[in-house]
Amino acid sequence: MRKKIIAANWKMYMTVTETENFYRAFAAEIPQNNRFEILIAPPATALAKLSELNARASQRIRLAAQNMFYEESGAYTGEISPTMLRELFVRYVILGHSERRQIFGESDALVARKVRAALHYKLRPILCVGETREQREAGKEKEILERQLRVALQGVESSSLESIVVAYEPIWAIGAERSAVPEQTQQLHAFIRCVLTYLSNAAVAEKIPIQYGGSVNTGNVAEFLSQPDIDGALIGRASLEARKFADIIKAANKLS
Ligand code: PGA
Repeated sequence: MRKKIIAANWKMYMTVTETENFYRAFAAEIPQNNRFEILIAPPATALAKLSELNARASQRIRLAAQNMFYEESGAYTGEISPTMLRELFVRYVILGHSERRQIFGESDALVARKVRAALHYKLRPILCVGETREQREAGKEKEILERQLRVALQGVESSSLESIVVAYEPIWAIGAERSAVPEQTQQLHAFIRCVLTYLSNAAVAEKIPIQYGGSVNTGNVAEFLSQPDIDGALIGRASLEARKFADIIKAANKLS
């Protein structure tokens, strides 16, 4: 059975005080029968507070970072290292989010270095891949996904590949009015699993959770998660309010 993961990507929202208020309201709403691994990726400034609150609440969630650099320390102004994240009990790190790629110019090669560093320091990378609207309209989505996965995961041993999570986030569906269509998304998740099989083997590819991200909300989460190759969700806007995010988790847990 693959791990099912519901993750909050708070992007550049939420101060430390807002994080504290969120956590208190949210922790009380997590259903008793919850079957999902719940991740929160706050801004770096709120990681320490979230880590402390979570330790007091018997680790009800897992911490994720939104980015990191690949070196352990050094003259890299503005960057955060894998060991700094480990010190705060961070378990996952989002890498290659389309906003990092598009706004901050991160290349597939840079993402690849970060993936290898995360694995080396025992952080689980959430590798984001996805095509732009133009690429989709030109029918190039599979080509793009294949390249992003191949470059980011090249040279990673099969035994380490088991620790990664892939997040398929079509860029045109992020922060959009409408999400992608679940059935079409399933086909691309199945394709991603084929690429992962090619990069390792079927047994490893079967174990890798593939999340969907892009305008997931309470109303559509169940439809996405009922697809055979959609193993979770990476959620932006709808994760910023404790009640809304908790409602998504409740809706997901209603699935048999
Ligand atoms: P959204 O963002 O849920 O606001 O579309 C998703 C993401 O960028 O991870």
